[in-house]
Amino acid sequence: MAQVFVTRKLPEVAEKVLRGAGHTVIVAGQDGPLPRDEFISGVARADAVITLLTDKVDGEAMDAAGSIKGFANYAVGFDNMDVAAATKRGIPLSNTPGVLTGATAEMAWALLFAVSRRLVESDTIMRSGRWPGWGPMQFIGGDVGGRTLGIVGAGRIGTAMALKSRGFEMPVLYTDESRNETLERELGARKVDLDTLLAESDYVSVHVPLMPSTRHLFGTKAFQRMKNTAYLINTARGAVINEAELVQALRERVIAGAGLDVYEFEPKMVAGLAELDNVVITPHTASATEDSRNGMAELAARNVLAMLEGREPETCLNPEVFQ
Ligand code: GLV
Ligand code: GLV
Repeated sequence: MAQVFVTRKLPEVAEKVLRGAGHTVIVAGQDGPLPRDEFISGVARADAVITLLTDKVDGEAMDAAGSIKGFANYAVGFDNMDVAAATKRGIPLSNTPGVLTGATAEMAWALLFAVSRRLVESDTIMRSGRWPGWGPMQFIGGDVGGRTLGIVGAGRIGTAMALKSRGFEMPVLYTDESRNETLERELGARKVDLDTLLAESDYVSVHVPLMPSTRHLFGTKAFQRMKNTAYLINTARGAVINEAELVQALRERVIAGAGLDVYEFEPKMVAGLAELDNVVITPHTASATEDSRNGMAELAARNVLAMLEGREPETCLNPEVFQ
């Protein structure tokens, strides 16, 4: 029987899976990100840990962990984890791809429509009682049908986002390291370089993981390449965008608007962002649906079971530690 440390309350199914296999589960009791010292001391007592994107799984945490069997991230993104450090120490890591793909792609669409059709501004005026009645020039937004969709990073989520464009008959451009035959076959999508995508797209949706090569991929130069009628959607990681430069571009209408679910310095936003009317901002909730969060909890728990048994987890980030 092993001891599993969970750094914050998760959907019940995680504990059910772990307890069902006879393990002890210790869930950190705070309602917020776990302070670093409590994270380290929790890790030190555990045989395996379920971590969140707010926990930094670095060499220090791994060394505090002694003979830990692994860290299972409750997220698809794993920029909070030092994979090389774990591999060097023979510690398996896992994430939760797949189960949140649909929900995240749907959120990208929700943001796309919310910002292009100005839903938040419109809702605000209705609630304020200041709507003067119908007007031909009120809240004119961007068209979606037939406009060009640019997918930056055509992995699982980028692909799902693009496939959902079918009903809107949008030409689709994408960037990726490799060709995406599904998008080319299903949508006639074109693989282009980033500059072409930025210049030709009416909606640019970001789906790359955060890595050294994607940090600040979007800044003033990128915004200047975009059409001034174009919208930027980000459900990936905040730091892919230089947020201060985005605020400036939105303020000066270099681009038309942005729909953001993620921020460079979460939970903070850079100065000025929240004052803009051409941005829709949500609190990193793209995977926050019942099915998606339950799926993440169950997959993370199954990954922990595998780690405890010395088997390769289903969605292992460093399978080479099992060779
Ligand atoms: C959420 O941001 C995730 O990576 O799952
Ligand atoms: C990113 O992890 C993706 O699945 O697109």
